[in-house]
Amino acid sequence: MTWNPGSWRPKPAKHQPDWPDKEELKQIENQLSLLPPLVFAGEARQLRREIAEVAEGKAFILQAGDCAESFVDFNADSIRNKLQVILQMAVVLTYSSGVPIVKLGRIAGQFAKPRSSPTETKDGVELPSFLGHMVNDPAFTEESRIPDAQRLLQVYHQSASTLNLLRAFTQGGFARLRRVHDWTQEFVANSPEGKRYEQLATEIERALRFMEAAGISSSKSQLNRTDFYTSHEGLILEYEEALTRQDSVSGNWYDCSAHLIWIGERTRSVDEAHAEFLSGVHNPIACKVGPTATKEELLPLLEKLDPNRDPGRLTLISRMGAEKITDILPGIIEDVKESGHPVAWISDPMHGNTFTSETGHKTRSFDQVMSEVKGFFDVHHSLGTWPGGVHVELTGEDVTECLGGTNPVETNDLGKRYETVCDPRLNGQQSLDLAFEVAELMRSAPNTP
Ligand code: PEP
Ligand code: CO
Repeated sequence: MTWNPGSWRPKPAKHQPDWPDKEELKQIENQLSLLPPLVFAGEARQLRREIAEVAEGKAFILQAGDCAESFVDFNADSIRNKLQVILQMAVVLTYSSGVPIVKLGRIAGQFAKPRSSPTETKDGVELPSFLGHMVNDPAFTEESRIPDAQRLLQVYHQSASTLNLLRAFTQGGFARLRRVHDWTQEFVANSPEGKRYEQLATEIERALRFMEAAGISSSKSQLNRTDFYTSHEGLILEYEEALTRQDSVSGNWYDCSAHLIWIGERTRSVDEAHAEFLSGVHNPIACKVGPTATKEELLPLLEKLDPNRDPGRLTLISRMGAEKITDILPGIIEDVKESGHPVAWISDPMHGNTFTSETGHKTRSFDQVMSEVKGFFDVHHSLGTWPGGVHVELTGEDVTECLGGTNPVETNDLGKRYETVCDPRLNGQQSLDLAFEVAELMRSAPNTP
């Protein structure tokens, strides 16, 4: 059967909501399909070229943002704060490693969640799980948990205004390197990593002043603007299909809901709907690879998603767990290498390291997160392959969701500002801390380009 944007429909699809009103869903899909695309094919192609550089060991991906975006926590400040921390991390990584950083947000579309259990029980009451604001509401009532297709439209509109602001910030002067000092938030400024960042920012400023004094113009566009791409898990396929458009230049189909779409760990079976849908769009795509992945599962999937073995087409996001990574990842990398798919490998050190604290909070420890990143680098260093990036859940805010860091969040602090609608995120300080540690790992690489 040949691919078309709806060819996923007869296939089994896991983690899909049971929409109560199919007629309403259809109408909303029709409305979405008439709305303007959120991103353009040319931008997705540009990202593909940049990821091809990562696959060749010449660039590094920083993919970061919320586990799940929220309809409630939606305002200019939260978007700016998230962008600021990602820009800070990217500056730390670029300056320390000398490698270009591809900045990829989990933003402007990351609203749907696969859940480990379809129901949630509280005080003896069992209700359907919260599936992300694209589907239902987190309040613990029967009414709130009913899937509501109107939410697909709200996702589109919130994503459009988020992207609008991101484009303004990244193209309109806010991301100018000369402003490298201004991206630090007050609560980070006095922390050890805040001070370390200030030092680095001062060095960058000095270098920029030197360039100007030497007659090298700092009006160069790369110093005044930055490329920032969007990504999310392509889980709710009705939404993705409705935003899939045929590019007038190449005639190819692109999912114009984001630059990069990924397949989650729970929906990556080669014969199922998610792989079918993503196999036909020409965006760069990614796939999570967890500890249970086998060669028999993975190789047919890579063949389906990347039959032409195109660099930049496929990114594999390893999420093994700190304890397992050094045992499991080497074999998988070898198998992929042998198959000839020129993938970019990045590390998600968050999803294999989630646990429930004594206080009942779903959390992660900074040390375990770093231990998985370190394992990822070690494995690549020993195989002579390129550790091509990190994928983290973070926020710019001063939340207390993950344990540890240089100004440590302790178990008893978790309840203070636990604000996530899904998984625990690194706060602004922990994110910067991670960037400094990753920068050091990059510098220690024997195969640094
Ligand atoms: C996620 O990235 O939020 C997620 C659900 O990850 P995974 O598919 O790896 O569990
Ligand atoms: Co998550």
